Amino acid sequence: MAQIFSRIVGTGGYLPEKVLTNHDLESMVDTTHEWIVARTGIHQRHIAAENETTCDLAQQAALQAMDAAGIRPEDIELIIIATTTADQVFPSTACKLQHRLNIPQGPAFDVQAVCAGFIYALDIADKYIRSGTVKRALVVGAETFSRIIDWTDRNTCVLFGDGAGAVILEAAAKPGIIASHITADGRYRNLLEVPGGVSSAYQDVQNGRAYVRMQGHEVFKWAVKALGNEAQDMLAANHLSVDELDWLVPHQANIRIISAMAKRLHIPMERVIKTIHRHGNTSAASVPLALNMAVRDGRIQAGQKILLEAFGGGFTWGSVLIHYI
Ligand code: ACO
Repeated sequence: MAQIFSRIVGTGGYLPEKVLTNHDLESMVDTTHEWIVARTGIHQRHIAAENETTCDLAQQAALQAMDAAGIRPEDIELIIIATTTADQVFPSTACKLQHRLNIPQGPAFDVQAVCAGFIYALDIADKYIRSGTVKRALVVGAETFSRIIDWTDRNTCVLFGDGAGAVILEAAAKPGIIASHITADGRYRNLLEVPGGVSSAYQDVQNGRAYVRMQGHEVFKWAVKALGNEAQDMLAANHLSVDELDWLVPHQANIRIISAMAKRLHIPMERVIKTIHRHGNTSAASVPLALNMAVRDGRIQAGQKILLEAFGGGFTWGSVLIHYI
């Protein structure tokens, strides 16, 4: 039997209407536009409206991706949403989205790998398609990270924003997704975390104090090292040189992490997709949002080789090498 691969046939993205600029933040915490731009590259972030949830954001991105792929709800056989900020404890945001989009079949579930979540979800969906289990998957990264931010903590509140990105993955005779790799190292989980949850420190959730806590320096060093090694290993395993890579689409956490990692990899910044200035760190939504923007503005073209990669709390990280066909 001929081998089955998967390929991306449509992308979508959505950012909530409300924009919070660095100048807005100057009146909330002791910070400046200049500090935020110099240390992070972020100019603004989008914030979900009070009644807007992760599923609402996911829905907009999914509809756009379905439209780009020219498919109907009944064509989708699998839904995976990567999110840290699910609408409810259960059911999953993916089940909610399945109902909203009138998708009549297939498994639907959420994946929790924080900022690396979309890479995890794409890795899983690719394996479902390669195994012949499903022909078409909707893969979404969606977050309302603003809900787990302490807006009085200048160390974290300037970094994050809300958004969603989505792709439609379809069975194909040729890759498509050439290779993917995901991994984790739980020994470092305390360097970046929301300490409160349903089953531990629940009082923080009840008091509305379950917020992101982070040791920024340590996370920074780890992210540069892990993302640099990840890209090198992925390219070497697939006999590709950096020169043969058309685009690197990294997790958009901090422009300094991106440029340090690009330097380590010897890839010019002109071949790195950067969208951080527009929306800050949107966690699991960051890679599909950046991918969607570069597809829609024409930078990413058929026939090109692209490397997606992300790093997040856990620590979790991984990459997906794509021949964009
Ligand atoms: N405005 C002004 N000053 C600030 C702000 C702010 N918003 N935040 C911190 N500072 C101050 C600090 O208090 C410190 O002051 P001090 O020297 O008087 O103590 C000073 O600025 C320098 O702080 P540093 O932490 O050394 O600044 P650094 O250059 O490391 O930048 C940052 C901080 C941006 C958080 C950086 O460490 C970083 O980006 N780390 C990675 C974190 C990250 O991206 N996490 C997201 C999730 S993981 C991921 O997605 C990769």
